Amino acid sequence: MLSHEYDDFDEQKAPARKRRRKVRFDDELQPQRSGRLTEDARQRLANLREDALTAEAELPPGADRWSTWADGEQGPHPRPDWLITDLAAVDTELGVLKTGKEADVHLIERTIPDTDRSCVLAAKRYRSNEHRMFHRDAGYLEGRRVRESRQMRAMVNRTSFGRNLLAEQWSVAEFAALTRLWSLGAPVPYPAQRNGTELLLEFIDDGAGGAAPRLAQLRPDADELANLWEQLTGTLELLAMEGLTHGDLSAYNVLVQDGHLLLIDLPQVVDVVANPRGPEFLARDVANIAAWFASRGLPDRFADPVALTERLLHTAGM
Ligand SMILES: Nc1ncnc2c1ncn2[C@@H]1O[C@H](COP(=O)(O)OP(=O)(O)O)[C@@H](O)[C@H]1O
Ligand SMILES: [Mg+2]
Repeated sequence: MLSHEYDDFDEQKAPARKRRRKVRFDDELQPQRSGRLTEDARQRLANLREDALTAEAELPPGADRWSTWADGEQGPHPRPDWLITDLAAVDTELGVLKTGKEADVHLIERTIPDTDRSCVLAAKRYRSNEHRMFHRDAGYLEGRRVRESRQMRAMVNRTSFGRNLLAEQWSVAEFAALTRLWSLGAPVPYPAQRNGTELLLEFIDDGAGGAAPRLAQLRPDADELANLWEQLTGTLELLAMEGLTHGDLSAYNVLVQDGHLLLIDLPQVVDVVANPRGPEFLARDVANIAAWFASRGLPDRFADPVALTERLLHTAGM
């Protein structure tokens, strides 16, 4: 009777869970205290252990992990040609782009070993540390309903459980926002994937291996400034057509690549219609960014925040 039980166990669990990397064997095929493994089960366990060891040993020198492509949420179709989706690819950390209170952005390279194929990705990792304060949480929580009130209470009271939930929710929210906006054709980095609190994004580069500058770092001449304002208002119109506004728009959350503007940092994207403070958030976004353009010399007749806010609210159907 005992050996019959083990045979069942083998067939149902062991083959399905056998994977090339990160093979888990601790909780599989455990002999029960009262019995012994059948010969087959013993062999299978030995194979699993061996696989796990070889998988570790196989990681090519310099690589930090296997590609996480198979493990998380994946980006929208059509997938860009440059994106490496091969499961045999490995990730190597190239360095830190920026550390912040709420997230760190790292640069990673995903390579297929023994080929010349690779792509560079920005890895945005949300933090769930003790001292972080999400200045954006209040508005965010107001606008959305969390299904379980226990979760809501944990987040509002900032228990460690709640902080972890928040960090992961931010990555879920940003991935969803980027996916939606990218699919609409809005200028945002391609969201390649999400795993837990980590987002992998198209790296917006400066053509020389570095990151593209933030709008705040630029001193555009009058024509460039007018052109960037044109691009910005067009993008805000596109968001407004979907009933959305960025929610934390500033010259620090806009990148400029080869004269083209892209919006980044979108976890708190606001539904202008459903969120009770939606119109207020939209007005604040416009005021912030218009102030930057005005400070760089864009004439008032262009950078008129009140008129633009009205126009966008109208587009959003308010
Ligand atoms: N996809 C990207 N490509 C290039 N640089 C990026 C990318 N995403 C973020 N960065 C850089 O990292 C900084 C922080 O990213 P951001 O999303 O604004 O996070 P936060 O402001 O919450 O720390 C940005 O200002 C930008 O310089
Ligand atoms: Mg930012």
